[in-house]
Amino acid sequence: VSSEAPVTPATLGRARAIAAELAGLNDDEMSPSATFMELGFDSLFLTQLSQAFQRGFGVEVSFRQLVETTPNLESLARWLDPRVPTAQPPAPPPASGPDAAQATFASAAPAHFGTPIRSLPPGEKGAMIAVMERQLEIMAEQLATLSGRAPRALEAAPAQAVSPASAPASAPPTAEPAAAEPEQILRSVLPSGPRQVGLRHASELNRRQSAHLATLIDRTLARTGASRRHTAEHRPHHADPRTAAGFHPLWKDLCYPLVVERSDGAWLWDLDGHGYVDMLNGFGPNLFGHRAPFVVEAIREQLDRGFEIGPQTPLAGEAASLVCELTGQDRASFVCTGSEAVQAALRCARTFTGRDTVVTFAGDYHGNFDEVLFRGTAGRRRRTMPAAPGVPRSAVSNLVVLEYGEEASLEALRELGDSVAAVLVEPVQSRRPELQPREFLHALREICDTHGSLLIFDEVVTGFRSHPGGAQAIFGVRADLATYGKVLGGGMPVGVVAGRADVMDTFDGGPFEYGDDSAPTAGVTFFAGTFVRHPLAMAATLACLQRMKDEGPALQERLAVRTDALCTRLRALFAQHGAPFELPNFTSVMYLRQTEGHDLTRLFAHHLLLEGVYLQEGFPSYLTLAHDDAALDHVVEGFDRALAAMVDGDFFPRGSYQAAPAPRSVPSQPPVPGARLGRDPQGRPAWFVPDPSRSGAFMQVAES
Ligand SMILES: Cc1ncc(COP(=O)(O)O)c(C=O)c1O
Repeated sequence: VSSEAPVTPATLGRARAIAAELAGLNDDEMSPSATFMELGFDSLFLTQLSQAFQRGFGVEVSFRQLVETTPNLESLARWLDPRVPTAQPPAPPPASGPDAAQATFASAAPAHFGTPIRSLPPGEKGAMIAVMERQLEIMAEQLATLSGRAPRALEAAPAQAVSPASAPASAPPTAEPAAAEPEQILRSVLPSGPRQVGLRHASELNRRQSAHLATLIDRTLARTGASRRHTAEHRPHHADPRTAAGFHPLWKDLCYPLVVERSDGAWLWDLDGHGYVDMLNGFGPNLFGHRAPFVVEAIREQLDRGFEIGPQTPLAGEAASLVCELTGQDRASFVCTGSEAVQAALRCARTFTGRDTVVTFAGDYHGNFDEVLFRGTAGRRRRTMPAAPGVPRSAVSNLVVLEYGEEASLEALRELGDSVAAVLVEPVQSRRPELQPREFLHALREICDTHGSLLIFDEVVTGFRSHPGGAQAIFGVRADLATYGKVLGGGMPVGVVAGRADVMDTFDGGPFEYGDDSAPTAGVTFFAGTFVRHPLAMAATLACLQRMKDEGPALQERLAVRTDALCTRLRALFAQHGAPFELPNFTSVMYLRQTEGHDLTRLFAHHLLLEGVYLQEGFPSYLTLAHDDAALDHVVEGFDRALAAMVDGDFFPRGSYQAAPAPRSVPSQPPVPGARLGRDPQGRPAWFVPDPSRSGAFMQVAES
């Protein structure tokens, strides 16, 4: 017999309705006794949920209690019962659209929401500090998620088709908003089930782990102490999410970024003067190595000339011409970041088609602006929801998120038909580089053609790094619009939207002549930015483009072969040490993925630091042309020692690691004279020779 007080059905019903509404589930899909973790709610979602409860009940509900003291609807309702004013109106019916839901929550917002910590009674401060610690952990996760790591719930999720019944009716092309909102079309992803609850207390570590952790902290401080002192000194005035990345109460002494004061080629040097082979490479922009002399020279020359904003720089037109020549697109326009490029592409596509709905894919990352910070919701009422607190639900209400590479998603897209302005796709997701769905991309092209939707390739990572023509060239698919950034600027902040002339004309109205009565004819949208076409960025961009043009695709192919070889060596080490890691790659983009949950395993990047290898946990790694054999040997040896240290400290979960299937290796020397390196229909490296029967065509050399 339970001694707990009975729960008032009305309170439970209201709590359930709020949670179901936010999760996109029907009420009956939310078991009152299942913990929020068991329902697959991750920390970002729980933060949003605590806010929704606060707004809905006018009572402060903390993130922490949803994890610890009231971890399911039943216990929450029991806790709420005595705190909720009895005269409150019954729960509102589930809102039918984003605006209705916003209004419901907003009108119920309590006056004391966001009570500052200094107003708490002294006895509550300890608990509050613990909450703050947990919040820092969440921030660290948020940072990783929002910086591109696929939300945990999305990664292992089974695919589901959007059901025909829930698809909006097709609408003819029109300048009006589509009649049926994507609100009806819900996210095709289910939460991934029970979430691993991480380590919380030092007592959960065994003796070997405790001793190893203490040594790791001591050794890290001895090596990178100046970085920590710098971070501590500036934390009060510098609000920088990166300084909280990787926060964990048990090793918060390691929670500070490496502060680097100089670099050269493949190497970085920190404030303590220690060197590291850089495997992060600026989250991707670095293709030629740090301070590549030809890039430095181009920037220096431009510095001497000036960096004026407002009047046109002569460099921009030339750079646009080279972007078009290398990518095969008709016209190009510059912005300052990849996010801006994606935002501009979406605005352009909506202007061109007169439609609002945009389809994108789970696991994609498209930047930092509100509309692309989406998450999937599960159950029968699937829909797209904001991925982060602070993003209004209306911001993602025109976005339909489907599972990437799945046949069911193609079906769903066909059902959406003429309502879709654009399909926005990251052709090879940087956190799933092994997923290279060539046929799927071709099918997207075909469906877009059938329905007059635009296909947008987000090539911010793949563009110029995988091939001068990007993933489009590798997979043989031409996008209507493509976005670029990163590598293109040689380390300077640059973004590009390029595409079909008639679509790109929405930026400037299209061509006109001087001295006659011609005028821009295309409808235009607003597109501007103070720093776009910055002369220093344009100088670096032009230098990189020129170098890529001069060297041709062999430049990227050479690097891809070196990356394949490095990954093969590192995978062999994982197998040898029984490490729960895999390292898929697509050309020179690699992603070090932990295959089994264990908080201590996340400390691998710290072990690598001690070995003079720099990467960031949860982010892709990239190779540059400056990574010579000595640098690669240094990385392999560093991994070997770091893995051995992890085993020694008992930092890996025991047991179930299965070595990933070895990738196909390609001989590094041409198998026949004159053979050229290219990619086979699956996108894998292979050697080719000219086809004697078809001028200009190539055929693959058979493997012996
Ligand atoms: C595929 C993709 N698109 C867009 C962006 C956003 O680019 P930026 O960070 O330059 O705004 C990124 C950033 O990592 C990205 O990986």
